[in-house]
Amino acid sequence: MSGSAAATSTWRALPGAVGGAGLHGVLRVPGDKSISHRAVMLGAIAHGRTAVSGLLEGADVLATIAALRQLGVTIEGPEQGRLLVHGAGREALQAPSGALDLGNSGTSMRLLAGMLSGLPFPVALTGDRSLQRRPMQRVTEPLGRMGAQIDTAEGGTAPLRLRPGAILHGIDYDMPVASAQVKSALLLAGLFAQGQTRVTEPAPTRDHTERMLSGFGYVVERQGASVALSGGGRLTATAIDVPADISSAAFPMVAATLVPGSEVILKHVGWNPTRTGVVEILRQMGADIEVLSTAEVGGEPVADLRVRAAALRGIHIPEALVPLAIDEFPVLFVAAACAEGETRLTGAAELRVKESDRIAVMAEGLQALGVQAEVHDDGMHIVGRPALQGGRVDSYGDHRIAMAFAVAALRAETAVIIDDCANVATSFPGFVEQMAAIGLAIEAQ
Ligand code: S3P
Repeated sequence: MSGSAAATSTWRALPGAVGGAGLHGVLRVPGDKSISHRAVMLGAIAHGRTAVSGLLEGADVLATIAALRQLGVTIEGPEQGRLLVHGAGREALQAPSGALDLGNSGTSMRLLAGMLSGLPFPVALTGDRSLQRRPMQRVTEPLGRMGAQIDTAEGGTAPLRLRPGAILHGIDYDMPVASAQVKSALLLAGLFAQGQTRVTEPAPTRDHTERMLSGFGYVVERQGASVALSGGGRLTATAIDVPADISSAAFPMVAATLVPGSEVILKHVGWNPTRTGVVEILRQMGADIEVLSTAEVGGEPVADLRVRAAALRGIHIPEALVPLAIDEFPVLFVAAACAEGETRLTGAAELRVKESDRIAVMAEGLQALGVQAEVHDDGMHIVGRPALQGGRVDSYGDHRIAMAFAVAALRAETAVIIDDCANVATSFPGFVEQMAAIGLAIEAQ
């Protein structure tokens, strides 16, 4: 083997569990990506020292940290998940020497577009090829209504150029898509706007921004589907303990479900009700997932989960659960491919504008493994089968697609070769090692 599997870009995931007796072990997967980004951002514009523990040291969060350092914020770490952000309010930010490169991270770009609108100096936000293809008008348009002046590339994509000196005012905005990133961008701009900013969502989305703003002492009003705040207040630094990312826990969760004889315990998993859709969907399919204990850390619920192997059956996934499981569909499609019967997903067109077109890319890979997977504009229809074929699939540089197909190997007859896996470090550094610890072998090619 040449080098570690995590650092190279083609993986060979071996069929079945090592030793053949199921997957076993106790894992604490890395910190929640959404909460980690928000901890760094709010810490940077708060007053005082924000101490973060359990931070995800993935490439996406590192891009947020680097961007804020370019804006003059002093940040110590990260080291073993610990980070210290020295905030002096947004007014202390300084003009960066060049464009802020946010790599693969849509969360960084959309939230920072809001948080940095209306500064007295220009700011340019850019990213990798995938990020430069993703839709940004969903934030630039409502931010424009608030008074922000943001130039985009043709088609409303990055790079984004935030012009200096715009005066922001609050708006009352009905979001056309259920997106926590849009909601968060507007709330973050609203902190620096005159008057009240109110955002109404068509379906509940992750509410980490609202919870964390409250934790920083900012008044946020929630009423039904709306959330509102008034500009001009002050954020006070706090301590943040980041739970393990349920989106990362989804991989060992599905893996343990699929392999007979398995029992895996997942520790300190973020258990925010706006994120637990993956567990609800798997349970509806017949999964055996037990909550062993729950607690609350810094305004966010956490839980230890026990996952045992179970036979899955296909379902029509309730559309209301789609935004609550939006990042987990790649691995849920693998679960569906191994279930008895058919699974239908509808109302999930958002999957087409993630790090890749997750409907097209997953269908292509599943078909390569012998699965009948039919693509629809807003979802997929999958016919489960008792065993998958081995084969070669392309992740198109999408971290969650790569990890999903590694899990698929557990039910394959021969190895699954997965191309373009380097981006797994964006959300789950140590994936190969953690999965090896419970019995899934992934080799570098
Ligand atoms: C995120 C929101 C979701 C999710 C992304 C992280 C966030 O995106 O897919 O990985 O941290 O707010 P959308 O809000 O665009 O659905």
